[in-house]
Amino acid sequence: MIHQNRRKELLSQLDDNAVVVISTNPEQFRNGDVTFAFRPHSDFFYLTGFQEPQAVAVISADNYVLFLRAKNPEREIWDGERLGLADAPKVLKLDSALNIDALNERLLQLIKPESVVYFDAKPCELDLKIAELLSEKGFESVQAPLHEMRLIKDDLEISIMQKAADISVVAHEKAMKQVAAGMFEYQLQSVFDAHFVSHDSEHAYTPIVAGGKNACILHYINNDQVLKDGELVLIDAGCELGYYASDITRVFPVNGRFSEAQKQIYQIVLNAQLAAIASIKPGVSVQQPHKIACDVIQQGLQTLGLLTQDESLSKFYMHGTGHWLGMDVHDVGKYQQDGQPRVFEKGMVITVEPGIYIRKDAKINPVYHNIGIRIEDDVLVTDTNNTVLTGNLAQTINEIETLMSKN
Ligand code: GLY
Ligand code: MN
Ligand code: MN
Repeated sequence: MIHQNRRKELLSQLDDNAVVVISTNPEQFRNGDVTFAFRPHSDFFYLTGFQEPQAVAVISADNYVLFLRAKNPEREIWDGERLGLADAPKVLKLDSALNIDALNERLLQLIKPESVVYFDAKPCELDLKIAELLSEKGFESVQAPLHEMRLIKDDLEISIMQKAADISVVAHEKAMKQVAAGMFEYQLQSVFDAHFVSHDSEHAYTPIVAGGKNACILHYINNDQVLKDGELVLIDAGCELGYYASDITRVFPVNGRFSEAQKQIYQIVLNAQLAAIASIKPGVSVQQPHKIACDVIQQGLQTLGLLTQDESLSKFYMHGTGHWLGMDVHDVGKYQQDGQPRVFEKGMVITVEPGIYIRKDAKINPVYHNIGIRIEDDVLVTDTNNTVLTGNLAQTINEIETLMSKN
């Protein structure tokens, strides 16, 4: 029902004669004939609820058709059961199911002279073929209205995102309790691998487990170095559950106790994050959390003498303060409307993730060298305020040290 309502809602925003053509993701090879686990395209799943590869939906007000793989007993022995054409109409509330192998001959038959076609081609073979078939008729993008819908999460989506957040929170807690000097970063990663899989979820993105100076590499994913006594470890890891992502970063001391210098930098980032989160509510500009985080970090670094008034903050803080979160970790949805920053609305979910990264630099007091801190939580905009979906995870210095002292 939920997917049917979404299709109806989308069509209500399009031309009366709209026909939306949308395909799922292609299967991806890892190497040789080994494929990655299939993950449907978020837009496609959002509208159809169908999880198999090689599928194209054709959606209009009076006809909902799905091209999909036919049953194939031989292939199903190897790859698993397929829904098939006979059962698909009832299960997916289709008007008709057509064989994906007939796409070439049948697609244009579903489009009338008066139809206004909506289609967005992904860079894959199937979409190139569809674009070619539709080229004479022409087509428009459906992304703007569809992604506005995805940006505002309904109650069911929020409940799944809360569950994803809860799973990730527990994994971070386990990592804080299990870390020890001498462990490899990948061993700490394995805490997340095991916890996510055992909760029917998977990594929403490649996790970052970065000890010491590796935390200053923003997209560090090698995760193959030893964790050392006296250093911090930054973990940016979140699970995807039911095609919805969570996204959490925590930084904690490998030996369980922050040094004074580590505490100073950590507290600035935490102050920035808490102030940024406090600003989030309906009607506030989506730029506000970043502006507030930058002000707090600039001020904090100046107080420690690490930054002068004329120096650019980008030396230590060079990324944004957050992004939409949903079916994709960097979720869809515009940040601007009519050339202006938009404002927060109920049902949006945004990450808040300020950071400070201090690489080795002869001009900087060595006690601060190689400290990389980011604190990231997932924030839901509510009626009048916000809720932190990941708010149960230890965050203050005291909370982290206390949690790490328990076994
Ligand atoms: N984990 C990806 C990000 O924080 O944007
Ligand atoms: Mn993030
Ligand atoms: Mn992250």
